[in-house]
Amino acid sequence: KEDEFEKSFKEMISTLPKGNGWSVSEDLCQYQGFWLHPSFLRGVVSAQQRFQAQSTDIILCSVPKAGTTWLKSLTFSTITRTSYDDSTTPLLSTVPHDIVPFMELHHAQFYTNRDRGIPLLSTHIPYSSLPRSVTDSGCKIVYICRDPKDSFVSMYHFISRNVTTTEAQPLGLDEAFELFCEGQSFYGPYWDHVLGYWKASLEHPGKILFLKYEEMSDDTVLHVKKLAEFIGHPFSFEEQQNGVPEKIVKRCSFEKLSNLEVNKNGVYGKPSTGFVENKTFFRKGKVGDWKDCLTPEMAARLDQITTQKLSGSGLSL
Ligand code: A3P
Repeated sequence: KEDEFEKSFKEMISTLPKGNGWSVSEDLCQYQGFWLHPSFLRGVVSAQQRFQAQSTDIILCSVPKAGTTWLKSLTFSTITRTSYDDSTTPLLSTVPHDIVPFMELHHAQFYTNRDRGIPLLSTHIPYSSLPRSVTDSGCKIVYICRDPKDSFVSMYHFISRNVTTTEAQPLGLDEAFELFCEGQSFYGPYWDHVLGYWKASLEHPGKILFLKYEEMSDDTVLHVKKLAEFIGHPFSFEEQQNGVPEKIVKRCSFEKLSNLEVNKNGVYGKPSTGFVENKTFFRKGKVGDWKDCLTPEMAARLDQITTQKLSGSGLSL
């Protein structure tokens, strides 16, 4: 069965348009309107064919570099708050991506978490390409996005720091910027990714919670309460009196997580998709860090694209 899958996948991938892969070893492929790295694409196609969502599942979706790691930590901590506290949470010894697996990387392992009452999974798959069972099952989706200027800068640094092969040279900032503006970035075009989930969240407000990194940063406690309510684990009056939401926010803060040994020195990944250093998921964790990296002209250009792409949608970034 695996051989058949590989064979048809290879045939399919050979027909797709290819584009510059931002220094990662292989080209990106354009699949169903979005640019994907081949090893992730294999997982996307596999999930589309085989992943069976259940109505009680909670899928954390995001455009890359929008705060996925943070959202995973917060949601996991919220769901497991009666099982773990600050001194026992698995977050102390495990990178959040190994706690809440990516559907397109690890979906076969998901069932163990469901069995433990933690039906959490994450993905960067665009809304229009999600496995049918995700949209049909009515499971809950939480989406996080971010100002594209900060996401671009975050992605640029992430890739520069993770280029490990000696042949590959990190892509220059200007070149990466150009590709990003043209929509050729991981799971890009960025704006199409965001708009897909935004529109779906308007159509199905009870099923999709749409979050922005900036709003989360501005009032994390408020958003964790909203998140808890949405996923069916609301904080009781007593828990609120006892500061439980605040404790979770603190436990998952950039400061706390980035200083853990596992996130300073551990690695994440597997041979088929490659490894990255955990610390590269924790860079600065700030809103507006693009100012240190982009010229005013670059920022204006991205803003202009954003305004144009989002016009009439009711969304601003
Ligand atoms: P920067 O590169 O701007 O610092 P993702 O998790 O989707 O890959 O996104 C990574 C971005 O989220 C990085 O942004 C990272 O620093 C930031 N981040 C990671 N953990 C965070 C946390 N606990 N709180 C706030 N931001 C966090």
